[in-house]
Amino acid sequence: MSGPASQLDALVIGAGFSGLYQLLCLRDRLGLSVKVLEAAADIGGTWYWNRYPGARCDSESHSYCYFFSRELLEEWTWSERYPGPPEILRYLNRVADKFDLRRDIRFNVRVTAAHYDDKANLWDVVTESGERYQARYLVTAVGCLSAANVPRIPGLESFAGHWYHTGQWPQEGVDFRGKRVGQIGTGSTGIQAAPVIAQTAAHLTVFQRTAQYSVPARNAPLQEEFLRYVREHHDEIREVMRSTPNGHPFRIDRRKAFEVSEAEREAVYEAAWKKGGLQFRASFHDLVLDKAANDTAAEFIKRKIRAIVKDPKTAQALADIDHPYAAKRPPIDTDYFETFNRDNVTLVDLRAEPIERITAAGIKTRAREYALDMIVFATGFDAMTGPLLKIDIRGRDGLTLREAWAAGPLTYLGLQVPGFPNLFTVTGPGSPSVLTNMPVAIEQHVEWITGCIAYMREKGIDRCEAGAEAAQKWGERVNAAANATLLPLATHSWYLGANVPGKPRVFMPYAGGLARYRAICDDIASRGYEGFVMRRAGARPRAAARGFR
Ligand SMILES: Cc1cc2nc3c(=O)[nH]c(=O)nc-3n(C[C@H](O)[C@H](O)[C@H](O)COP(=O)(O)OP(=O)(O)OC[C@H]3O[C@@H](n4cnc5c(N)ncnc54)[C@H](O)[C@@H]3O)c2cc1C
Ligand SMILES: NC(=O)c1ccc[n+]([C@@H]2O[C@H](COP(=O)([O-])OP(=O)(O)OC[C@H]3O[C@@H](n4cnc5c(N)ncnc54)[C@H](OP(=O)(O)O)[C@@H]3O)[C@@H](O)[C@H]2O)c1
Repeated sequence: MSGPASQLDALVIGAGFSGLYQLLCLRDRLGLSVKVLEAAADIGGTWYWNRYPGARCDSESHSYCYFFSRELLEEWTWSERYPGPPEILRYLNRVADKFDLRRDIRFNVRVTAAHYDDKANLWDVVTESGERYQARYLVTAVGCLSAANVPRIPGLESFAGHWYHTGQWPQEGVDFRGKRVGQIGTGSTGIQAAPVIAQTAAHLTVFQRTAQYSVPARNAPLQEEFLRYVREHHDEIREVMRSTPNGHPFRIDRRKAFEVSEAEREAVYEAAWKKGGLQFRASFHDLVLDKAANDTAAEFIKRKIRAIVKDPKTAQALADIDHPYAAKRPPIDTDYFETFNRDNVTLVDLRAEPIERITAAGIKTRAREYALDMIVFATGFDAMTGPLLKIDIRGRDGLTLREAWAAGPLTYLGLQVPGFPNLFTVTGPGSPSVLTNMPVAIEQHVEWITGCIAYMREKGIDRCEAGAEAAQKWGERVNAAANATLLPLATHSWYLGANVPGKPRVFMPYAGGLARYRAICDDIASRGYEGFVMRRAGARPRAAARGFR
């Protein structure tokens, strides 16, 4: 690393929901010198990059926002139940303006390396263009879903048309008119994109490897009556979000699926289908805990698919779902299954005819070649660990994060990694993160990190690092929490890293619920950051308190 380095108290990587709030907390609440480095040309993170057709949030807008400022809540009004990137970006810009955040964010700056200097107790950070920064605290706010996964299908370089990944969508948009479009991938993204692409493309061919459940989103403009309810109930909404496992503004029904009659169960599902949205998952208490209970929801959705899709062979391929409902992140949609009734849409079942290669003219499966002008990769992300491992992060004694995580990510609370002092990972693996309505998890992490740094400064502690034993025990709790649910039964899920060849198969998020997790984090903090190894300036390292319970 060369060149004079800018000296900072804290450096934050990423300017999405996480990085913006982390900047505000460290700069304005603790009075630190802070900079944010962001690879994109503007703020927004997910919403800057994912501008593909049909992109929307699936958290309800009145909950997909910050709750830390009452004034901000009262000033902002959402227009739709599930807004798309333009409106979410307007919201984040409003936040950045209100709190004067832009002056400390550097855009078009990708961090390539971050090395911990043990002697100086500083992080040395280098960017793609060779700029250097030194900071006492390094906070990664790089997102869980920001490293696009373009599968290595042989022949892509020979394709004569254009191809795009939904997570790196061109800012100027893509014109599909008159084009033969191939879409690979039918997760949340593909399910949102296909109906909109089909509206203008000459023909859309959807290549499906794993069939997915989806429930109608029922997106609509928000009515004045609902907006008034939101304005008058911020505290109650916040309370529900903080007390439920997933951070959403609705509670999970207390009843188990078999505590009601079959007719009643059907009526519950029918009502949830009509209402639309992720709330379907909350229809019964045990849907992601008990396979037989889950089967009742799964069968209901499969019946709906068969009823909507007219061509029996296509309906069968779409409803041939091999995992429990919600074991993979459940999508919500606007006319996804209906789209397969259009004359210009074809489904290709890759289980029956796997892709062999991409050719100059299109995609060749085992059965035939599909002629295409454009390919859309809705193939997801190298989730959770990908954005961190793309940076050459080295901790004490030159330990690389890649070595530390060779067998899968090991963290303490998803907040710190043993061997990497003063590195904090917002929504890191081992925290509830992607299993939640993320702004709630983000606020909790950012505030906890801010509290930890405030504590260190107050006590004259200059180094904080996850204890190895505490991290090991936390890893066991993360595994146990996942195994208490049906989530690991979707063996091809990105929660397990299974979508990226060669990635260790480890269930990455903490499935024990956000409310419980918050209580654990608060308890650990109240015990003087139990399980973290803290060092006072000029002193030898010591284990905090009595070790991990
Ligand atoms: C299409 C889509 C829809 C989603 N919808 C929802 C939803 O409805 N509800 C929900 O709860 N969650 C949703 N999510 C998850 C979403 O990622 C989070 O809600 C939230 O936006 C994450 O914010 P973040 O700031 O943590 O990360 P991000 O928004 O991903 O921001 C991370 C930023 O870090 C930057 N970065 C990464 N690496 C580097 C580097 N090396 N150097 C410099 N900059 C770097 C990236 O460019 C990016 O701007 C969705 C995700 C996707 C992909
Ligand atoms: N708010 C929203 O509604 C929304 C929208 C988009 C994304 N998101 C978030 O982002 C996450 C990721 O969603 P995503 O849809 O982008 O990714 P994803 O859920 O990982 O889905 C990727 C799709 O691509 C397929 N695929 C991957 N590699 C392939 C290959 N080599 N050949 C053929 N098919 C391949 C996958 O098939 P397999 O299943 O067989 O691997 C899957 O169908 C979501 O789970 C959600 O958390 C949310």
